[in-house]
Amino acid sequence: MIDLIHVTKRFGATTAVDDISLSVARGELCVLVGTSGCGKSTTLRMINRLIEHSEGEIHIDGQQIRAFREETLRRRMGYAIQSTGLFPHWTVARNIGLVPRLLKWPAAKVQARVEELMALLGLSMEEFAGKYPHQLSGGQAQRVGVARALAADPDILLMDEPFGALDPITRESLQEELRELQARLHKTIVFVTHDMDEALRLADHLVVMHQGRIVQQGRPLELLREPADGFVESLLGGEDRGLKEAALLPVSQRMRPLGAQSPADERIGQHVSLREALSVMLWRHAERLTVVDDDGQPVGELSLRRLVGARSDD
Ligand SMILES: Nc1ncnc2c1ncn2[C@@H]1O[C@H](COP(=O)(O)OP(=O)(O)OP(=O)(O)O)[C@@H](O)[C@H]1O
Ligand SMILES: [Mg+2]
Repeated sequence: MIDLIHVTKRFGATTAVDDISLSVARGELCVLVGTSGCGKSTTLRMINRLIEHSEGEIHIDGQQIRAFREETLRRRMGYAIQSTGLFPHWTVARNIGLVPRLLKWPAAKVQARVEELMALLGLSMEEFAGKYPHQLSGGQAQRVGVARALAADPDILLMDEPFGALDPITRESLQEELRELQARLHKTIVFVTHDMDEALRLADHLVVMHQGRIVQQGRPLELLREPADGFVESLLGGEDRGLKEAALLPVSQRMRPLGAQSPADERIGQHVSLREALSVMLWRHAERLTVVDDDGQPVGELSLRRLVGARSDD
């Protein structure tokens, strides 16, 4: 869906992005991570041509982006940024309806879409539709920014730290929303973040950048287990990598069938992560948990030994 082929961007003497190649398949969620100034935002903005690349080729659906009309690119790509980029003299509703209006949707359809998106992002129409950006908290403004990016139902979403100003609870619910959106509507998403837990949770494809170059890319578990070098390793969490890996694996992967032993009192869902299971064990001082399915029926057992990946139980 999106291909960057030996792409370079120079600003005068600075090389912001240095010969990167990257492919994002349709329906995939690709996350760019890396230290500040490594070229993540520049990469994103070259994809929607807010910045023109200096060298190499960028293709959407096999076609060079320079061949697309500006309007087509705008319709196909939603763009959300941390600082939101909302128009200060426009109300929330008008900001969200920007792209549909540019695309000349009938007014009633724009209105319906705005209402739908505000509901999706937990912004009440009554309270927020008529407010101006300066009357919003940082997190509210960010949600408006995300709503605006989704407004014309683009098949590609470019998101540059879109959840940076949100509290952990709202952030997690939006991450889930994004995952669902992607699964349900097969959106192709390129997402920039500084938050490694967010990156690992969201990414199908994780790209680590450093000083304008891609130092490693692949599935999150691959990178966690085999980081290319010390930089990737420390960026991915260093000594915390065990916990980060555990956060990606479900309890069902390590549980064993219910045995002859009487079942443990403490219970845990089979889809819950091993990290959460470990936390429950620590909290409850329990070395064994009974694993239950969605209906609360016991389906197995998880011991601490199993959880840490030992092959056999004692
Ligand atoms: N318009 C510009 N003119 C000159 N240099 C620029 C311009 N935009 C970006 N740069 C430089 O290009 C490099 C990459 O910047 P970019 O914004 O892509 O980094 P980033 O990875 O998004 O960083 P951050 O995590 O801090 O947002 C930086 O060294 C930056 O100073
Ligand atoms: Mg940036």
